Amino acid sequence: MHDKVAIQLEVNDRKVSADVSPRMLAVDFIRGDLGLTGTHVGCEHGICGACTAVVDGVAVRTCLEFAARLDGRCVRTVESLAAADGRLSGLQQSFRKHHALQCGFCTPGILMSAMALLAENPNPDAEEIRDVVSGHICRCTGYVPIIEAILDYVKQAGDDHGA
Ligand code: FES
Ligand code: FES
Repeated sequence: MHDKVAIQLEVNDRKVSADVSPRMLAVDFIRGDLGLTGTHVGCEHGICGACTAVVDGVAVRTCLEFAARLDGRCVRTVESLAAADGRLSGLQQSFRKHHALQCGFCTPGILMSAMALLAENPNPDAEEIRDVVSGHICRCTGYVPIIEAILDYVKQAGDDHGA
């Protein structure tokens, strides 16, 4: 019988303290304990990318991470993207504009991987975007609208900064 592990972390700009079982997965902690169900569970094997959240700026498959290892770290989930009043972020609006989602199951993970990419490289080209999106399984869109949505967002953001 294992004792619980006390963890303290930041989730979407909120300080969180919890006691977790040593073998609890990060995705189960995020969804079950924190109620942030926008982080989806697909394959549970690190393949589909649906469970992706950003941890200390890096896109992480939370089905492959233990909750205990989130101690002291900064986690962002898809719930952090929209404004408090529900207004979608620029990237989310671009996904809507380009019909880059249908069932939406893959979408939170792809959005979070894109956010990690854009934080590191605000002006990625199509190849770099394709490389990141290729780490996610989407059964609906054929991927093309997803690439277009991210590219268009990058262009809009560049235009805004250049204005
Ligand atoms: S549920 Fe984590 S990669 Fe598929
Ligand atoms: S929109 Fe359905 S899996 Fe991607």
